[in-house]
Amino acid sequence: MSTPRTSPVSAYLDACQSSGGLEKLDPSVIAYIAALESVARVAPGIARSTVQELADQRANIKLIASENYSSLSTQLAMANLLTDKYAEGISRKRYYAGCDNVDAIEDFACAQACKLFGADHAYVQPHSGADANIIAFWAILSARVETPTIQEFGAKSAMGLDDAQWAELRRRVGNQRLLAMDFSSGGHLTHGYRMNVSAKMFEAHGYTVSRKDSLLDYDEIEKQALDVKPLILLAGYSAYPRRIDFERMRAIADKVGAVLMVDMAHFAGLVAGGAFEGVHNPIPYAHVVTTTTHKTLRGPRGGLVLCTDEFADHVDRGCPMVQGGPLPHVMGAKALCFTEALEPSFKTYAGNVIDNARSLAEACMSEGLGVLTNGTDNHQVILDVTNQGVSGRQAEAALRECRVTSNRNAIPFDKNSPLVTSGLRLGTPAVTTLGMGSAEMKEIAAILKGILGATEPGVTRDGKPSKIEHVTADDAQLAATGRVDALLGRFPVYPELDLDFLERHFCASDDPAAATG
Ligand SMILES: Cc1ncc(COP(=O)(O)O)c(C=O)c1O
Repeated sequence: MSTPRTSPVSAYLDACQSSGGLEKLDPSVIAYIAALESVARVAPGIARSTVQELADQRANIKLIASENYSSLSTQLAMANLLTDKYAEGISRKRYYAGCDNVDAIEDFACAQACKLFGADHAYVQPHSGADANIIAFWAILSARVETPTIQEFGAKSAMGLDDAQWAELRRRVGNQRLLAMDFSSGGHLTHGYRMNVSAKMFEAHGYTVSRKDSLLDYDEIEKQALDVKPLILLAGYSAYPRRIDFERMRAIADKVGAVLMVDMAHFAGLVAGGAFEGVHNPIPYAHVVTTTTHKTLRGPRGGLVLCTDEFADHVDRGCPMVQGGPLPHVMGAKALCFTEALEPSFKTYAGNVIDNARSLAEACMSEGLGVLTNGTDNHQVILDVTNQGVSGRQAEAALRECRVTSNRNAIPFDKNSPLVTSGLRLGTPAVTTLGMGSAEMKEIAAILKGILGATEPGVTRDGKPSKIEHVTADDAQLAATGRVDALLGRFPVYPELDLDFLERHFCASDDPAAATG
């Protein structure tokens, strides 16, 4: 006789009923299981990988500074028919009929974003942080170069220019300068790195941190800005453990007639939660602010542009100027994330993220690990692993073997290549979401030291020390994984999801419908 086929949703409801817990049913959990069941009917492997990713994230400490754990409500907001809808344009000015409901979603998301950040205008369509930056660049070019050129030629739009005028407009648009934080100092590759289109769109210049203390030197930035005279002065980083003085950056921009653009992708949640105030909050100072919504802000994967009224119409042309149709289901999830971030508990969260990063930095220093700038005042801790005798790449791999997930990172003026590096970037957004505090940061620092102190370079084929291969002592690995298990056992991610149940139903077989409850 064949095994009776059991629907995972029915099995879950039966199990709840027999344990008398039906009243306490969590709709998000049922929706999660139902979504997996529905997916598994078409592509069991996708459901299996989704559950295996949960298992992976339960078993590994997530110290990736750019990642977090979004709420199940945020995740579930994306699992619906809104993905089917084309809605190019903006609310009430669409290129397609039938967008009333998308209008309502986008209007609400924009209003919540403005309320959360105190911004004049929000554009919630960018598919990612990189897309938000490209939209911002083109909006600034449109406002400051294209529109004045069209006016100078006495036309109403680019369509009214003759070929020579159009060629001149294109020459001017393609001949502008960008001054941003250098990639090797912690800037992002969309800020003018040669591997990225931003360096091809602009004559891109980079400012670095100081060799003396790895901090931004505003006097030096001002000197460089006076020399370069950029159209855009860009502030923001992917790997820099300190706050930025945006008042000073705006003064520099004003002095050279530049637009101040801030990419707060990494620290948007710290701004939203009020942990970055005064001169450290970019909104009152920047003309245009871009961000991701999935890092410290803890929302769905996506981007956002905030701007002053001067740039609003130009930013709103992001689709179709630069980007394809918006993702209405993700805009809905962004609205949820902004709403969650407006809750008082998010303020506490943002403060805790920074407190934890400070505790982690101090504990790492006490363990003898090299901490860039001797501390942090945001969510990041950048380790220089040179004194441990390994490269960033070896450190990253050694930690991951012991179930600590982090990423290698170049440190300023790094002697190693970007693929090898001498640093590790650690971040506290995810572990703070799990509820960890200062004691756990000390434990994490001890785990890191236990692994790195027992790791050495492997040997290349010609017998030289490798910068890529590593060897970690077995006993140190065993000790570290034991400590990781003990720590994560107390702070499971998505504790409402029963991993054993999900694995039984979605990972046991290629055909999950064949698995029994
Ligand atoms: C400062 C900064 N800007 C932009 C991005 C790009 O974001 P996304 O990966 O969503 O395109 C990142 C990503 O890490 C970032 O750190």
